[in-house]
Amino acid sequence: MSKEKGSFKGTIGFVLAAAGSAVGLGNIWRFPYLAARDGGGLFLVIYIILAVTFGFALLTTEVSIGRRTKQSPLTAYKEIGKGWSWIGIFSCIIPFIILPYYCAIGGWVLKYFVVFATGHGSDTANEQYFSDFISGRTEPVVYMVIFTLFCAAIIFMGVSGGIENISKVLMPVLILMVVGIAVFSLTVSGTDSNGKEVTGLDGLWVYLIPNLKGVTVKKFFSIVMDALGQLFYSLSVAMGIMIAYGSYVPDKANIAKSINQIEIFDTLVAFLAGIMIIPAVYVFMGPDGMSAGPSLMFISLPKVFAAMGKVGNIAGAVFFGMVFFAAVTSGMSLLEAVVSSAMDQFGYSRKKSTAIETVIALGIGLVVCLGYNVFYFDVMLPNGSRGQLLDVMDYTSNQILMPVVTIATCILIGWVKGPDYVISEVTKNGEKFGRAGLYKVMVRFIAPVLVFILFLMSLGLF
Ligand code: PHE
Repeated sequence: MSKEKGSFKGTIGFVLAAAGSAVGLGNIWRFPYLAARDGGGLFLVIYIILAVTFGFALLTTEVSIGRRTKQSPLTAYKEIGKGWSWIGIFSCIIPFIILPYYCAIGGWVLKYFVVFATGHGSDTANEQYFSDFISGRTEPVVYMVIFTLFCAAIIFMGVSGGIENISKVLMPVLILMVVGIAVFSLTVSGTDSNGKEVTGLDGLWVYLIPNLKGVTVKKFFSIVMDALGQLFYSLSVAMGIMIAYGSYVPDKANIAKSINQIEIFDTLVAFLAGIMIIPAVYVFMGPDGMSAGPSLMFISLPKVFAAMGKVGNIAGAVFFGMVFFAAVTSGMSLLEAVVSSAMDQFGYSRKKSTAIETVIALGIGLVVCLGYNVFYFDVMLPNGSRGQLLDVMDYTSNQILMPVVTIATCILIGWVKGPDYVISEVTKNGEKFGRAGLYKVMVRFIAPVLVFILFLMSLGLF
């Protein structure tokens, strides 16, 4: 282990940094859409149940592996068991693949923030604006570079000087912005196509009230799988990140308590994102206006902001500023997973490791940005959706590699080493671990089976 590794000064710093990683684009552009599509309150209830069982087990496993081995994702698995180092390699490849395209998207967010903050938000409501922007050759590259350097600067400053300090500032500000936008969204009103007055509160009920209409057993199962897939991505597990951050957690910290706080933070932001987005979309675009992914953030929401009139620029600037913070804290955690791996594996200094990975990420990021013009292609993915370069990378990391890492980790901890490997770490200072029994069942049986089903679905086999 490198001398310079560093650690978080306190538990709060760790919780905010881990929450910063967990709270990202997924919370904002995917959770509200799934909730709106999957029966509102019904999805919320299923998601929360999965968070305190399945999500809790995976997060506890990774943070404990990190703290126990004090190693990066790449080197931790080697220490746990000979013959398992390949999981470490996979865990490190995943953030390596995600980082460049996450930075490309972070750049888009930054661009939209600048456009709204300079008072030109209504331009983005034009149907073609987004595709014209991303297919440009210079602007997306410039913004991607700025975003990447921003993350790199933080990682350069180290664990407590960079990651911890920035998380302690950005995360409270992010919560305030999210709450502010959510309250604002509830107060908007407009008239629907029949001339009837609709308000944000009407949209809120669509979100909160469980809608059981048309929920068959098959549909219920697909809602559970949607919630599971979302949770898996949202908690930033299987990306090596929680192992890296776990390795910086002070030995005296209470892991079980910290995990609860991280989960509450992540779920709260996802829940509030729904209150931010669903009522406003409902008022200005009707019940069918919801979409997920880039089209929600960069096409639908700009129309909503434009429909708000003058305040739209301010609302949009605050919104994209908030998303930028959420993306930076996730982007820097991806970078840290790779940087810490290179430090432990090759004995590089933090600065050298950060510089090398940043240059590589910029190079791949450039190719990703040009994937919308020079290197444009369009393929059919095994799960049935169509995608370009960015989507192919996203599919490979999230739908193929991440489930493989999780299933292998569950086998390693649940069966080869035994769940006590984690439980003894969680309770090492005599802490109470009320859910130890639940943890065992989850890591041995339920989590690997659920993720395996998810994996088969990604391959289009289920
Ligand atoms: N948890 C993030 C989200 O919900 C996903 C993510 C985390 C992506 C870290 C990249 C890096 O958006």
